[in-house]
Amino acid sequence: MAVKHRVDLAPLEDVLAAYAGVKGSLISILQKTQEIYSYVPEDAVYLISARTGESPAKIMGVATFYSQFRFAPAGKYQIQICKGTACYVNGSERLIDVFTEELGIGNNETTPDGLFSLNVVSCLGCCSLAPVMMINDRVYGLLTAEKIRRLLRELREEDETV
Ligand code: FES
Repeated sequence: MAVKHRVDLAPLEDVLAAYAGVKGSLISILQKTQEIYSYVPEDAVYLISARTGESPAKIMGVATFYSQFRFAPAGKYQIQICKGTACYVNGSERLIDVFTEELGIGNNETTPDGLFSLNVVSCLGCCSLAPVMMINDRVYGLLTAEKIRRLLRELREEDETV
């Protein structure tokens, strides 16, 4: 069963007040929601529904259509792996599978221990280093499956010693 995360909805109320009556603002509201909470919480969907008059199903339909939205809190290590053209032709699809094998998560998911979250993105702006990923603010290029496995191992060990 999915864990339900309680969140403070006050900051979202301010966002909704700012967008009150603004047509076509649902994506902007969802982006602000994710900025506030690092993901789109279920409680936020119901509040957005109450304030905008859109059904929760419609809001979730929009949110799940875009890969930028996440539905669980971001991990301590936020991994963004690129599947833009340069990365794709250099094997990024296979590398995405490595994360699933190593961490047991797919796109927009977070490991149960809250350590890693994974997002598949379109381009990280450093195509000459393809295939590329970022972990938090740091870029890792010329990736291989072995590099990824080693890095994940190091981050886990680092975390255990903190
Ligand atoms: S296509 Fe991957 S960084 Fe540009």
